[in-house]
Amino acid sequence: MTRILITSALPYINGIKHLGNLAGSMLPADVYARFQRARGRETLYICATDEHGTPAELAAAEAGQDVFTYCEEQHRLQHDVGRAFGLSWDWFGRSSSPQNRVLTQHFAEVLEDNGLIEERTDRMIYSNADRRFLPDRYVEGTCPICGYEKARGDQCDNCGSLLDPVDLKNPYSVISGSRDLEIRETRHLYLLQTRLADRIRAWVDSKADWPLLPRSIAYKHLDEGLIDRGITRDLAWGVPVTRGGAPRPGFEDKVFYVWFDAPIEYIGATEEWSDATGADWRRWWRTDAGADDVRYVEFMGKDNVAFHTVSFPATILGSGEPWKTVDTLKAFNWLNWYGGKFSTSQKRGVFMDKALEILPADVWRWYLTANAPENSDTAFTWEQFASATNRDLADVLGNFVNRILKFCETRFEGVIPAGGEPGPLEEKLFADVSARLADLTEQFEAIEVRKAAQALRALWVLGNEYLTEAAPWTAIKTDRDRAAVVVRTALNLVSLFARVSAPVIPFAAEVIGAAVGEAWPPSWPAADGAAALSRLEPGRPIRVPEVLFRKIDDAQIAEWTLQFGGAEQAGAE
Ligand code: 2FM
Ligand code: ZN
Repeated sequence: MTRILITSALPYINGIKHLGNLAGSMLPADVYARFQRARGRETLYICATDEHGTPAELAAAEAGQDVFTYCEEQHRLQHDVGRAFGLSWDWFGRSSSPQNRVLTQHFAEVLEDNGLIEERTDRMIYSNADRRFLPDRYVEGTCPICGYEKARGDQCDNCGSLLDPVDLKNPYSVISGSRDLEIRETRHLYLLQTRLADRIRAWVDSKADWPLLPRSIAYKHLDEGLIDRGITRDLAWGVPVTRGGAPRPGFEDKVFYVWFDAPIEYIGATEEWSDATGADWRRWWRTDAGADDVRYVEFMGKDNVAFHTVSFPATILGSGEPWKTVDTLKAFNWLNWYGGKFSTSQKRGVFMDKALEILPADVWRWYLTANAPENSDTAFTWEQFASATNRDLADVLGNFVNRILKFCETRFEGVIPAGGEPGPLEEKLFADVSARLADLTEQFEAIEVRKAAQALRALWVLGNEYLTEAAPWTAIKTDRDRAAVVVRTALNLVSLFARVSAPVIPFAAEVIGAAVGEAWPPSWPAADGAAALSRLEPGRPIRVPEVLFRKIDDAQIAEWTLQFGGAEQAGAE
């Protein structure tokens, strides 16, 4: 049977992530991993913190900590908040791990052996005041494209253009603010992507089933022509540059570029997991060690696609070694904050830790899944968030579950009743449930995140419709057996809802499952309504849980708008 390897883009170490990061990579990856595990497929979900490069160094300096301590602390925080959100990583690693260092150095060496890396002289910004080079984000200035005055050396946050630090107008050092800068020559390693362009194109051509978004981004880059890419930087924090296992002469003060080592950490983190658990990472990553039956699925935001369709494949394919490459690449657009951007650097929007301070994880998980920024950018607003929570979770799912459990408690002594036979209403329900379950399974398999949420909701709706039509509160007055059939069938729906909702709202699903004594973690049901709705044996006791989902009221919306800001904070972007 196919095994499933899942990775989600590695979050930068520089602080707890916002809901946009969660919605566009880690959460959908987790939902998919939970679904595949329930299907009975051997599944490995790997993620890690992306710890190198200027973002980490700058954030550590801002926090007044050395970069090691900073990364260790932030890794722990991101790990803990991810777990609190229910992210079921099999391993959450660190790109600064020894495993990743060895792998990164290994890839660079084989690429050089294969004639795909060469040393070149670069012109880089040097700060006389700071007595160092200022790569990437260490320099800011005016964007040569749009005129934004706080563009970073590697990218303009305003227009999104990728930049070269030497192109900035009026540049200044982020460390000291000094404008006493000059351009100096420095040696760097270049990965000769131009020589790999045909191989990468043939590889992308072979991925005909990738969704449109990653395919179009990959071809855009291939059609524009790949360029050779500098893969080292004048920095202290990162993977040291070696040759033949020893420091590379002339590169003692340089490290690999963060975007070279970060994707390698997908493999590195699997090795970390392997070292910690005694598992065998090679059977997931090496086709000469059994990885041929692995389906590898990557989740990421659209800004990461070029790195995963061109740069990382260049590393992997260029090595000439039998590494597993991605089979399915699921990319997301942006979740915006009231039409503007969430921003880590400007602390705009809701961040994962604050989100959990005000509401349980499942409420966020539901909203962010049902409104995943899948086919276009999506705007978060408190009003939509509240209405999705109140309507879908409280009115549709929560209300159904509570109503029938309470009824069973008061009218059937809290025990699943025996007696009666399913009638036409149940036959219709079985058929409807079969169809909707088939749809739900198909959407999850296809990683159609929003459609899967819609299909899930459609199943929940069947529960309410059935109860309204079958009206056990009326039947009980004249025909106890008929009421027993309805209650039994509805309690089976409760159990079914727990099982199929678990990938999206795992915490509530477990509580719902426990209410009808469902074994946990649950297995995924076959698309057979009759079978799914006659599993629970009569006589089994049930329990009525506390209110499952509290409604969000206007006062809370007003309070959170004040606390987190809303439209006015997103500005004119
Ligand atoms: O954009 C980001 O947040 C990067 N830290 C993603 C890295 S993905 C992987 F390649 F490591
Ligand atoms: Zn710009």
